[in-house]
Amino acid sequence: MTKDQFETTLIHGAFGVDGSTGALTAPIYQTTTYQQRELGVVQRFDYSRSGNPTRQVLEDQIALLEEGNFGYAFASGMAAITAVFFLFESGDEILIPCDLYGGSVRLLDNYFKNFGITWRVVDTTDIASLETSFSAKTKAVLLETPTNPTLQVSDIAEVARIAHARGALVIADNTFLSPYLQRPLALGADIVLHSATKYIGGHNDVLAGLVALKNPELADRILMIQRSSGGVLGPFDSYLLLRGLKTLAVRMDREVENATAIARWLKGHSGVDRVFYPGLESDRGYAIQTKQASGAGGLLSFELNESYSMPAFFSAMRVITLAESLGSVESMACHPATMSHASVSPEMRAKMGISDRLIRLAIGLEGLESLKEDIEGAFTAAKA
Ligand SMILES: Cc1ncc(COP(=O)(O)O)c(C=O)c1O
Repeated sequence: MTKDQFETTLIHGAFGVDGSTGALTAPIYQTTTYQQRELGVVQRFDYSRSGNPTRQVLEDQIALLEEGNFGYAFASGMAAITAVFFLFESGDEILIPCDLYGGSVRLLDNYFKNFGITWRVVDTTDIASLETSFSAKTKAVLLETPTNPTLQVSDIAEVARIAHARGALVIADNTFLSPYLQRPLALGADIVLHSATKYIGGHNDVLAGLVALKNPELADRILMIQRSSGGVLGPFDSYLLLRGLKTLAVRMDREVENATAIARWLKGHSGVDRVFYPGLESDRGYAIQTKQASGAGGLLSFELNESYSMPAFFSAMRVITLAESLGSVESMACHPATMSHASVSPEMRAKMGISDRLIRLAIGLEGLESLKEDIEGAFTAAKA
C-alpha cells in the first residue's frame, strides 16, 4: 500500500458512510445484546463479547491498515498479548529480545510459565546468533522493533525467513511505529499486535490493544480466544480509537519530524553522552530501520552526562511531562531505571543497555522550538 493509499484508508477505510443515516462517523453501538429474529436465527451479532458493530469497524480498519485480513480489538495491549500467548501450549517455547516490554515478560514469567510455556532471551538484532538459538520446542519469536528504551532494531524479514524455515511464528509488537511507519505482516511476520493506548489512540485517553493477521486458521483461533477470555474493547473506546486513527499520519509525521530534529540537536549537546534514535545515520539500526520502515518514530533516548543532576533535569521541564506512557500528542519524559524498568534488576538493566543516566523522550506535537527550549532549560537547571 502506498503512503497515499494508506492516508486515504485512514479516513475512509473500513467504514465510509453509514448506509441508513449518511453519518460520516461510525455510530457507538452501546449495547450488549441483539434480537434474534426467530429461534435459531442469529443475525450478524448476538452478544457484544462475541461481536459489536463499533468494535467490528475498528477491527476491520486495523486489518486494512496492517495489510492483514483479520483484526481483533482488546481492552488493553496486555489483553491483546495475553490472547496471542493463549495460542501456545505446554512444552512450547517463545524467543524474546532482552528489552521486550516488561509487562510481556512478567506475563510469561509469572503466569504462562506455570502452564509449561517457556521463554528464552535471544538477540533478535543479530541474525547469525538468532539462527543458532532455535530449539525443537521453539514455536515463536516475539519481536519489538525498535525496542524501548534503547531503540534496538531487528530485521523483520530476516527473522521471519529463519523462523519460518524452522516452523516458528513471528509475532511483532508494532506499538512504537504504528502501521503508518511499519507494516510487519507485509515484511513476513505472522501476527502483529499493538498497545493501541499509544500511537493508534494518540491522545492519552484510551487503553486498548489490537491484533492483526493474515492467516485464516490463526485468525479463527484468536477469535475463539477473544470470545472465550472476554478481554474485549468496549464500543466507546472503539470509537475513540477510530477517531484517533484518522489523524495517525499527520500526528506521526510531526512526531518523527520533531524527534529527528531533537535527536540531531542532542547528539551535538555537551550534556549528552549518547543518543539512541534509529533515524540518525550514525545509529547502529539505521540501515535496517530505513529498509523496513518509512520513519523512525517519536521515541528517543539519551544518556545525560554525569555532571548534570537527574532529578533537577526532570523537575525543570515545563512543556514536557514526566510520565510513563508514550505515543500521544503531548511530549513525555521518563527515567527508565526508576520508572518503566524499575522492576528489572540492575544487572539485567546493565545487560539491556539501560544505564541510570538514560532518559527517554516520547516526542509529541508541540512546537519544536518550545520543546528544545524546555530541554535546554532542563540542562541549565541540572548543571547549576
Ligand atoms: C511495546 C508495548 N507493548 C504492550 C504494552 C502494553 O499495553 P497496555 O498498556 O495498553 O496494556 C506496552 C505498554 O506500555 C508497550 O509499551
